[in-house]
Amino acid sequence: MKKLIALSAVIFFILLAAYFTACNNNSESQAKEDSTDSLQKVIAHGEYLANHVAVCIDCHSKRDLTKFSLPVIKGTEGNGAGFPFGKEDGVPGEVWAPNITPGRLKDWTDDDIAKAMTHGVNKTGDTLFPIMPYYGYNRMAKEDLYAIIAYIRNLPSSDNAVPARKLDIPMSMLGPLPPYGPEKNVKPDATDKIKYGEYLVTMASCSDCHTPRKPNGMEFDFENAFAGGFIFNTPMFKVTVANISPDSTTGIGAWTEDVFIAKFRNNSSDEVVNRDAGKMNTVMPWSMYGKMKEDDLKAIYAYLRTVKPVKNLVEKYPK
Ligand code: HEC
Ligand code: HEC
Repeated sequence: MKKLIALSAVIFFILLAAYFTACNNNSESQAKEDSTDSLQKVIAHGEYLANHVAVCIDCHSKRDLTKFSLPVIKGTEGNGAGFPFGKEDGVPGEVWAPNITPGRLKDWTDDDIAKAMTHGVNKTGDTLFPIMPYYGYNRMAKEDLYAIIAYIRNLPSSDNAVPARKLDIPMSMLGPLPPYGPEKNVKPDATDKIKYGEYLVTMASCSDCHTPRKPNGMEFDFENAFAGGFIFNTPMFKVTVANISPDSTTGIGAWTEDVFIAKFRNNSSDEVVNRDAGKMNTVMPWSMYGKMKEDDLKAIYAYLRTVKPVKNLVEKYPK
């Protein structure tokens, strides 16, 4: 809360300065109103990113297993996951996405949260298992990073605690952490569609699922980025990750931009009850990404056209 006040104070003074230089109007109360508006805008931007692009809320909330694409159960946003990531997700053990509401993060500074998000080290100094996508978030521009932090600081508070993680390997096996330094990142201009699309794909961790793994099951095979093939063998259903490289027969090379966007929109409902008694389901968070802004989806499409086409035929629902 203290930090939030500090943040809003900073924004207030920036706005105040801008206000006096820009419009020659000395009304202080007007400036105060503008600063509240501007903080609301930052939070709304963070809400959009945390729900529909970086999908923090997808992992850090309880999910409805009876519905298509396991939408978030309303009222549990940020309270912590209802089930752990495990072997079926390529995790050697069990890892739970913790509560990230103010009930749990109240003693964390913005810097503590930013470090967990982009450097993979939490307030107690533990290295986070990289199912938490901090390698990708490491490339997030500061304005987006801090908008997300402002949003999670404003989530309804919960005291929910998740079980401690259990890993079969030491974290030291996982290699070096990405360096901390959110200042270094610049957000590409949205008019540079391909660069901006790459930025969004990185923030949305598409590659974490869509890039195949090497035989050890842990490392990514970036030579074949976006070619799919990993099988999520969950207790409820089995689904293979799609090939979204631009190969025209086995990937999405033949898809037009309209087809691509329609696919996201048609799957974006939170209310589609499972087809086929829960067997034909997916871990692709359609209900979250499906509400992404049109221009953002277009940029993602534009970027995905530029990656290497890889021939890799996958069977969506393997036996
Ligand atoms: C793919 C799932 C996933 C996504 C997406 C995700 N997280 Fe996480 N997050 C996790 C898991 C799992 C952990 C715990 C890792 C561990 O215990 O080793 C975690 C840990 C954290 C922690 C550290 C909490 C603690 O108590 O140590 C913070 C803070 C956090 N995430 C914030 C975020 C934010 C903010 C976003 C969105 C920008 C986000 N996470 C997106 C899965 C995810
Ligand atoms: C948690 C894992 C996961 C993440 C993250 C993820 N996907 Fe997927 N995606 C899947 C799986 C599994 C499928 C196949 C089943 C399905 O169609 O839902 C899939 C299917 C798709 C399809 C349909 C392809 C086809 O041939 O029908 C598209 C397009 C797609 N993903 C794009 C994306 C993009 C773009 C991102 C990032 C914004 C992304 N995915 C992030 C798991 C994921």
